[in-house]
Amino acid sequence: MLQQLRRASVLGGALLVACGPGPASDPGPGQAPTGPVLPLGHTALPSPEDNPLTPEGVALGRWLFYAPQLSSNGQVSCATCHVQARAFALDVPLATLGVSGRPLARHTPTLINLAWAGGLFWDGGAKNLESLSLAPLTHADEMGQADLQALMDRLAATPEAVRRFEAAFGPGGPSLSHLLRALAQFQRTLVSADSRYDRWRRGEPGAGLSTLERAGHDLVRERCAPCHGSELFTDQAFHNNGLDAVFGTGEQVTRGRGRVTLRAEDTGRYKTPTLRNVARSAPYMHDGRFPTLDAVLEHYRHGMVDSPTLDGAFRRAPAPPGVPLTDLEKTALLAFLDTLTDEAFLTSPDLGPPPGP
Ligand code: HEC
Ligand code: HEC
Repeated sequence: MLQQLRRASVLGGALLVACGPGPASDPGPGQAPTGPVLPLGHTALPSPEDNPLTPEGVALGRWLFYAPQLSSNGQVSCATCHVQARAFALDVPLATLGVSGRPLARHTPTLINLAWAGGLFWDGGAKNLESLSLAPLTHADEMGQADLQALMDRLAATPEAVRRFEAAFGPGGPSLSHLLRALAQFQRTLVSADSRYDRWRRGEPGAGLSTLERAGHDLVRERCAPCHGSELFTDQAFHNNGLDAVFGTGEQVTRGRGRVTLRAEDTGRYKTPTLRNVARSAPYMHDGRFPTLDAVLEHYRHGMVDSPTLDGAFRRAPAPPGVPLTDLEKTALLAFLDTLTDEAFLTSPDLGPPPGP
């Protein structure tokens, strides 16, 4: 209950900041947070100038995110694949829940702290949240809307949709650009910054990490940053972490970041995912190949394969590439990763399906 109250104040406060009054200052050590609960060092929830967050815009975006009527068969919403309890990821390697039932080419990632994200998709193929939704909406194996005008006509004939669009953006009924903006607004409110780790960082009374968890934290800062660094636990950049030695060519999806930039050095690189809520977002990597965090850590210490674009951070010749980790260090890392679970984020009703009309 307390967590839900805190969560509510996150969104209320963050919207307030986005709409005008100056940003809340970081609480110093030993003080409970007074303003919005954002990752430490982040004082406002950013949004582009032409799409400021408004409570009505966020509410519309949330309604759209959970609306199966956006898909061609009326059964698939964004939330079909992006499940709140899984940190908005999906618990299978490759989703088959789209309108065609065919497996997607990549694993469904978490949606966490995207307000601060750089490139989106595993290869950075989408530049911003406003344009991204066009991809799942039109993809034949996701929501299958070959004709977006037909979708907008259907929404325009739905009184509830008209009412919600007009509440958010004024008279004129549903439009595609407002649909895309509202979805982006809602996704910017998917802020996770209230895990046990965060409370410890903020020095909140009664918040602490065990010796083992703190050792795991030190290890992340030492061996997993800069890639999984910062309070967001991602550098928003693209790296090859030694999963494969053979990649696609040209614009094949298995080429990774190189598919987008067409540069040889980007072959096999993928976006660094955040470690926040990682204990709840299995399976892992761009193809969901690892079912557990234990398997991920075994990959880092023993399973890496070499290739020309393997990140220099993993090279330790003459030893094979990887991250050296003892059994005890592995245990400490697993303990620390668990402290990044944010129950309020995973269960907040504010981020779940909206109440009826
Ligand atoms: C059928 C499953 C499915 C549906 C439905 C779906 N997605 Fe996704 N989503 C994915 C997969 C798979 C990816 C990864 C694609 C890639 O990187 O190539 C993804 C990636 C994303 C990302 C990028 C996240 C990041 O950190 O890079 C965002 C944002 C997103 N989806 C939002 C949405 C929205 C909004 C909708 C509804 C309009 C939606 N998705 C519908 C499966 C789905
Ligand atoms: C050189 C950069 C780099 C370093 C160092 C690094 N990682 Fe990663 N990590 C990545 C990238 C890139 C991916 C995604 C790769 C992919 O899917 O192809 C990833 C994926 C992961 C995932 C899967 C997350 C998910 O949502 O699928 C976990 C967990 C993880 N790393 C943990 C760690 C830990 C723990 C360490 C330190 C022992 C570490 N990483 C070191 C770049 C790095």
